[in-house]
Amino acid sequence: MSDLLLVHGGTPLSGEITVRGAKNFVSKAMVAALLGEEPSELRNVPQIRDVGVVSDLLRLHGVGVELDAEAGVLRLDPRDVESAHVSDIGVHAGSSRIPILFCGPLVHRLGEAFIPDLGGCRIGDRPINYHLDILRKFGAVVDKMELGIRITAPHGLAGTKIELPYPSVGATEQLLLTAVRAQGITELRNAAIEPEIMDLIAVLQKMGAIISVDTDRVIRVEGVERLGGFRHTALPDRIEAASWASAALATGGDIVVHGAKQPDMMTFLNVFRKVGGAFDVTDDGIRFWHPGGDLRSIVLETDVHPGFMTDWQQPLVVALTQARGLSIVHETVYENRFGFTEALVGMGATIQVYRECLGGLECRFGQRNFFHSAVISGPTPLRAADIEVPDLRGGFSHLIAALAARGTSAVRGINLIDRGYEDFTGKLSALGARFSRP
Ligand code: EPU
Repeated sequence: MSDLLLVHGGTPLSGEITVRGAKNFVSKAMVAALLGEEPSELRNVPQIRDVGVVSDLLRLHGVGVELDAEAGVLRLDPRDVESAHVSDIGVHAGSSRIPILFCGPLVHRLGEAFIPDLGGCRIGDRPINYHLDILRKFGAVVDKMELGIRITAPHGLAGTKIELPYPSVGATEQLLLTAVRAQGITELRNAAIEPEIMDLIAVLQKMGAIISVDTDRVIRVEGVERLGGFRHTALPDRIEAASWASAALATGGDIVVHGAKQPDMMTFLNVFRKVGGAFDVTDDGIRFWHPGGDLRSIVLETDVHPGFMTDWQQPLVVALTQARGLSIVHETVYENRFGFTEALVGMGATIQVYRECLGGLECRFGQRNFFHSAVISGPTPLRAADIEVPDLRGGFSHLIAALAARGTSAVRGINLIDRGYEDFTGKLSALGARFSRP
């Protein structure tokens, strides 16, 4: 499939689409299945590349993977788990960040794990120090190898007490996937509590795990000796839903997102309303539209749940280029998530990025060399341009900008968007977008 999309912008996106399971949950639930001694079934699975990468890695380890793509049903059979060849695993180096979560499950099932060098979006350094600290606290030994890392546990994995320096999503998942079958009790302080993590805890509980989520970001896990399979319907992708909502706003359109759920999007919906967007929540989704008139500027800070998600920030910034006045966005989760604004400026947007913490409290990136605050002045008409997609969410944002702009834009590198947006070209067609993939 061509990596180039020619977008003829200037038409409001209007129509109905459906979002399926959350990318940032489905891939983790697939890893959880590896812990079970019986088959599992995951429903509402989207056809995105991350699911393909994790399926390949599971197959390499002897897990039976069967996907009914149309129905979105994934059957995983981990009864014959086996060690994979390092060279086969190495092929997946750089393709995703999920492999790091295989550590605990593989050590429990096989006594060792080999994890390829990681990929994922280039939106900051994205270190794995929290992950490795957690594994070591459980008693694992981590050896750096040429193509990745090798994890062993000569004395088994034992429950422990850990406090995270920052409520990292991945590190919390690492802890959960390791603690459920470790010996004894594990306590995690400063845990991430994103809805996708709660759904992972629900899956693990179905498998037989004992996990409690207490107030103040404390999670306690009582290790068990054996886990079974699960049957579970994935929670919907709230990042994708918000991306389409921002597309409706930026193009002056009207989009019904079937499958979107209000409770997990409340923070986004508040901001959407403050900016001047309209929405209507129904039993099976949310309709988002631009009600006409001026959009309003806002001051916004991204944060861990229940704050405003960092992944919502990039698509919304495109809509903010159409709002009257000065908007300030302070990114506090990733140090380098404003690279995508350069292309927007090339299209006519007025966006200035700063090293200072603007419009909010000091964050981890203040007084350091990171351009992590942005001031957006609008409204500015956007004009077509040649754009190279930088990362998943930044790429979708560029697509929205091209759809809002007058003229024909060439958007390159769009295969990156397939990583996390199911059939986005089919959805664009359903919304009346004019484009071709030559
Ligand atoms: N961090 C460390 N050390 C670590 C781990 C994280 O310093 O060992 C830092 C990161 O550099 C970052 C912060 O902690 O500054 C938060 O990172 P987190 O671990 O929470 O992110 P993640 O688990 O790697 C997931 C999603 C991201 C999403 C973040 C925040 C997946 C596969 N990825 O990443 O999604 O932005 O949580 O919600 O679940 C995306 O979907 O486009 C995406 C980037």
